[in-house]
Amino acid sequence: MTTTSWNHKDLLGIQDLTVDEINCLLDTATAFKQVGERAVKKVPSLRGKTMVNLFIEPSTRTRTSFELAAKRLSADVINITTSASSIVKGETLKDTALNLQALNTDIIVIRHSAAGAPHFLSRLLKASVINAGDGAHEHPTQALLDAFTIREKKGHIAGLNVTILGDILYSRVARSNIWLLTKLGAHVTLAGPSTLVPRVFEEFGCRVTHDIDEAIRDADVINLLRIQHERQRMTMFPSIGEYAAMFGLNKERFARTKPDAMIMHPGPINRGIEIDSEIADCGRSVILEQVTNGLAVRMAVLFLCAGGKHSPEGAE
Ligand code: CP
Repeated sequence: MTTTSWNHKDLLGIQDLTVDEINCLLDTATAFKQVGERAVKKVPSLRGKTMVNLFIEPSTRTRTSFELAAKRLSADVINITTSASSIVKGETLKDTALNLQALNTDIIVIRHSAAGAPHFLSRLLKASVINAGDGAHEHPTQALLDAFTIREKKGHIAGLNVTILGDILYSRVARSNIWLLTKLGAHVTLAGPSTLVPRVFEEFGCRVTHDIDEAIRDADVINLLRIQHERQRMTMFPSIGEYAAMFGLNKERFARTKPDAMIMHPGPINRGIEIDSEIADCGRSVILEQVTNGLAVRMAVLFLCAGGKHSPEGAE
């Protein structure tokens, strides 16, 4: 494994990464996944460093995964959530961040409803800043773990037909996936209601269709996204029931997919809306493997950005 392709203190998004940098992150994650399968899962790479999980929006997978990743790298971890912080008393993001810097924090993982919040902190702070989701802009570690899972299962990414189905307009997962998968040579199709999948996304090098059956017919990978109610400013379709009937991956549609088409979802799942419950749990679903791979990917991100001093192989 070589980490020489990586020369950033932050991970703010996928859009500005090179193919070499993406491959460096994925290869480093492969090494860390092997560490996670050993009896002793901990390495000393970030011993003495402090990471703060600053989550101003709710999260289960990303927050837990970053915390566990930092602990596996021997870093000290502090979790800050909005309700238990001075943000509820009116403290600004800038002042919160400067106080964390005053405590000599080395890494800040931030999730925020405002697009660009991690970029703002990156300019302000000496610490490494990792974007754990900023508004509808980017969710880079989700795209990396999705790509890692596709590469692991299919052996390659270039040339695959990947369909992303659902709420594209408000999805940071969609944007990061689009940038990553097109850089690595996948054919990306975006599908869903025309209100949530505007044709302007064709400018990102994707195919846009509103015909769901056509979008999933030749797909090697189908990545389902939930409706981002928290970001929609108006009703984008008549009802949840109509969305499920028109655009959900139900048993009838699933039967018409390729026999080896892989089903992905970043979570949280809305069972019975974008995906039938049985399909979410079926043998072709890799939803929980995505979560497992997220840990290895986040270990790689923390290791590379925070200047880990030992190779992933160097377990205690
Ligand atoms: N996929 C994802 O970001 O999940 P959480 O919101 O639970 O972190």
